[in-house]
Amino acid sequence: MRLDRLIAHLACISQQHVRRLLAGGHVSVNAETVHDGSRAIRPFDRVESEQRILQLGYPARYLMLHKPVGYVSATEHPTHRTVLDLVGASADELHLAGRLDLNTTGLLLLTNDGHWSRRLTLPGNKQPKVYRVQTEDPIDPACIAAFEKGLYFSYEKLTTLPAHLEILDSHTARLTLHEGRYHQVKRMFGHFRNRVTGLHRETIGPLSLGDLPEGTFRALTPAEIAAF
Ligand code: URA
Repeated sequence: MRLDRLIAHLACISQQHVRRLLAGGHVSVNAETVHDGSRAIRPFDRVESEQRILQLGYPARYLMLHKPVGYVSATEHPTHRTVLDLVGASADELHLAGRLDLNTTGLLLLTNDGHWSRRLTLPGNKQPKVYRVQTEDPIDPACIAAFEKGLYFSYEKLTTLPAHLEILDSHTARLTLHEGRYHQVKRMFGHFRNRVTGLHRETIGPLSLGDLPEGTFRALTPAEIAAF
């Protein structure tokens, strides 16, 4: 919400009064004086006017989770356990910044900051995502050039962005994507009639699971939060 509207609403004063407060340097957001009434205020921001706390601001939370197989990337589900069960939160406390399939393991991000998660999941966000892929049949080396060139996904009527494939052994590869289409990795290998039998996300941009044990989570560091 805009700062000027928020103040008018919370302090029960007119817009004219709000403008006077802003112009007079009587409004602060997170302890910094603010004059611009159009500034967007998030629920995490502390807003004060003339030493009165108008909005306390609640703590933003940013977590990385090492998702195991068998947990659904949703906040609620009628039959499956959800990733929120693993962090002990409810749907009104946290949401997911991206998804992994039920049988995919690896790095998943959760937050209560909608601005941050939107930035991360916007189609324009080209942060590389690195997956380790296990396949049923030997990986055709022709995949390397085809993935680099892009594959046509007829359902969405688009060509995938260049993706880098590193073949590690006959049935294992590391794939770097710069987008996140529905079942993208499985569909890319499906194009070569090769079924993905294991899929694990290792990194998103600069964030890496490191040695975080499967099924556990940790808070992101301030530097990791700022990376997006
Ligand atoms: N691509 C897939 O096919 N599944 C995932 O979970 C992530 C990327």
